[in-house]
Amino acid sequence: MKTAQAGIIEAVPQHARYLFFQTEHDLDRQEAFAALQQLPIDAATVVGLGPSLVTALGGTIKGLKEHPVLSGSAGVFPSTPMALWVWLGGQDRGELLHQSRRIEQALGESFVLESVIEAFLHRDSRDLSGYEDGTENPTGDQALEVALVTGRGVGLDGSSFVAVQQWVHDLDALEAMRPTERDRVIGRRISDNEEIADAPQSAHVKRTAQEDFQPPAFLLRRSMPWSDAAQAGLVFVAFARSFDAMEAQLRRMIGAEDGVSDALFRFTRPISGAYFWCPPQRDGRLDLSALKA
Ligand code: HEM
Repeated sequence: MKTAQAGIIEAVPQHARYLFFQTEHDLDRQEAFAALQQLPIDAATVVGLGPSLVTALGGTIKGLKEHPVLSGSAGVFPSTPMALWVWLGGQDRGELLHQSRRIEQALGESFVLESVIEAFLHRDSRDLSGYEDGTENPTGDQALEVALVTGRGVGLDGSSFVAVQQWVHDLDALEAMRPTERDRVIGRRISDNEEIADAPQSAHVKRTAQEDFQPPAFLLRRSMPWSDAAQAGLVFVAFARSFDAMEAQLRRMIGAEDGVSDALFRFTRPISGAYFWCPPQRDGRLDLSALKA
């Protein structure tokens, strides 16, 4: 769809920087609008507005809400709301640094940069556990259908709802498992990426099997590994036409329905969780007309 931010549909880049901003308390609405509207949107730049920013700008987007807090016996999905999310992709980490400085400068006084995560592609799009991530992603027209809003009119069509979670892996815990045990945690064999038919109900792909939900819960996942000096893991990023599929998936993973929690929690845990609305774009600029309606 021509009005979508192209980076939502593109394959994940070689390197990325995720920028998370909060707004100043005394936000000048006009100034904030102007700053957002001059951000250049291209295939390597995706921008999402959090619920607090949409409210501060005086708008309402039906279906936009804060990421829930969900707890189960194996762990917790925390909620760490942010006002603005920018996902920058590229080939060169130095260029990405300069690009994020330009974005920060363009956003001006209204926005404060709260955190940055540097991410990268690992081998042929694998999680740091070594497993291929994205195999069951919808492709082609189905990807557009899953990720983009349609039938809601100009200003909303082509937009998308995105969930962003930072996960920290315990790679020692993973490495302490036998390879067959690791395969049963994911529900796929690392050797050939085939699904394991008799994997336990706790296996990640059993928990999240998109067609097994009623209604089906498809997501367009665009996650990337991250690391800093001390820790490493995955920045889970999933786009959809609403948060319904996402919340159905989260509830199953945490065991809210049947008490079975996702075996992923044996070696990794989310330390953040935020929801954003990615507006459509027109001529390389965000189309924020839905906020003025
Ligand atoms: C550290 C966190 C995570 C890791 C390492 C991870 C890894 C994986 C891997 C290796 C697969 C199998 C290959 C594929 O189809 O992509 C997979 C599938 C999947 N994951 Fe995750 N995942 C994580 C978090 C999540 C979360 C938070 C959700 C949803 C809320 C999720 C939803 C899915 C879905 C929908 C599938 C495809 C299931 C199917 O239809 O077969 N994942 N994930």
